[in-house]
Amino acid sequence: MAENLIISNASTKAERYEELLPQIESLVAGELDLVANLANVAAALKQTFYFFWVGFYLVKGNELVLGPFQGPIACTRIGLGKGVCGTCWKEKKTMLVPNVDEFQGHIACSSDSKSEIVLPALKNNEVFLVLDVDSDHLNDFDGTDEIYLARVMKIIERFI
Ligand code: SME
Repeated sequence: MAENLIISNASTKAERYEELLPQIESLVAGELDLVANLANVAAALKQTFYFFWVGFYLVKGNELVLGPFQGPIACTRIGLGKGVCGTCWKEKKTMLVPNVDEFQGHIACSSDSKSEIVLPALKNNEVFLVLDVDSDHLNDFDGTDEIYLARVMKIIERFI
């Protein structure tokens, strides 16, 4: 695996994702341990974009349970259909929330979180885990994040 991430400071968000994706591929290549891979993916995203919070919730029985993450401490369990993460799980689709205060049932692990994007990774057509990325700025995620983070989820789907 690569030892350092190389991301140009001057590049656009899309360019930084383009630089990051192959490095995420090589980070997880040859490593079969789920926690190790998820931990490095969370760290690579945080290191590249300085997101406020980035991490995973894994489906365990009838709840999502906190997995590897980078950022402040967070809620450990989320029910199906609860909050943004539980809705992503229930609906098996990406949730892009420009203002968390306007999302009915949003779970505020931190009052500093202002906008959020959550994407599912599927195994055998069922949600296996979700990636949750939070920003401390309103309206911080757009179609570019949605496209490239979906590509990150495709990489993850290959090792789950
Ligand atoms: N805001 C999320 C909960 C997880 S934390 O943001 C890390 C939600 O509404 O599901």
